[in-house]
Amino acid sequence: MKNDPAYLQAAYSAIFADRLCKQSSIIAIGGGAFLDLTGFAATTAHRGIAYWRVPTTTLSQADSGIGIKSAVNFQHHKNGVGAHDVPRGILVDATLLRTLPVRDWISGLGECLKIALINSREYFDELERGLPAYLARQYAPSTAILRTCARAHFEHIRGSSDPYEKSQSRPLDFGHWAAHRIEALSKFAVLHGEAVLLGIALDSLYAHRLGRLPENSLARVLSFVSACGIGKLARQQRDALNPEALLKGLDEFRRHIGGPLCITLLEDIARPFETNVIDINLMEQCIRELPARI
Ligand SMILES: NC(=O)c1ccc[n+]([C@@H]2O[C@H](COP(=O)([O-])OP(=O)(O)OC[C@H]3O[C@@H](n4cnc5c(N)ncnc54)[C@H](O)[C@@H]3O)[C@@H](O)[C@H]2O)c1
Ligand SMILES: [Zn+2]
Repeated sequence: MKNDPAYLQAAYSAIFADRLCKQSSIIAIGGGAFLDLTGFAATTAHRGIAYWRVPTTTLSQADSGIGIKSAVNFQHHKNGVGAHDVPRGILVDATLLRTLPVRDWISGLGECLKIALINSREYFDELERGLPAYLARQYAPSTAILRTCARAHFEHIRGSSDPYEKSQSRPLDFGHWAAHRIEALSKFAVLHGEAVLLGIALDSLYAHRLGRLPENSLARVLSFVSACGIGKLARQQRDALNPEALLKGLDEFRRHIGGPLCITLLEDIARPFETNVIDINLMEQCIRELPARI
């Protein structure tokens, strides 16, 4: 949906055919891709129409639907064209998740793991404890996990001195330099949240090899990703984990932010640090090793 400009055209066509104006409101109900597309259309049509979101996937209820960004892909640039679209309101109804396909259900855990690892040891413990119930789709424990992520994500944006991401520092993009590239290399056969799980596993392995992330913490991260069934996907998607092709994601990420490369890595769980330098040979070894470790 985000790859095909026809969908964006259709959104603008609907806005103008229905004679929406600056006094109108758009209520978008859907997953992260639909919310990104409609958010961008609402923010740019008439230079901004009031916009409300109703996220319907685990990923969008925990993360993307709670944020202030929207974008569509441009050529091979994931989220190449977008805007900041502060919504008027967000309605999260977890009962909408009941019909979600299993892969999309699990995919939401990518952003939950990201928030836990950069933010909160307690939340990571909660995620580990709650994973079996989440994978079994037990409603109450699963929605508790998603709610904690949504709150932490919201607080991170609200409490940040850089909500519009003007600086080099991008903690919410932990694991994402690889994730965006993996999605594109797989021709979007790998879902965003699955790619985030892979990107987190890769950067955690790399941080360990650098001598930063301790062995026991790495083991916890890899075992979480493995329990989500992502190892099988990694072994199937050989093109997406081709080291030479994947490493180009570092340069894409640097060009997106501008200035020097700035990648968030882990010193330990909930202890992120930033680096401007990636040892390409070491990262290549980690990419080769990853499928066998998860
Ligand atoms: N704007 C941001 O800050 C941000 C952050 C993270 C991710 N994203 C974007 O979000 C997208 C991924 O979002 P997603 O994981 O929600 O996937 P998605 O929007 O692609 O939806 C996944 C699938 O589930 C279907 N679906 C949606 N809700 C359903 C429901 N309740 N029942 C049954 N089927 C349902 C959709 O039609 C789709 O086929 C990516 O494009 C990613 O780039 C944006
Ligand atoms: Zn993401």
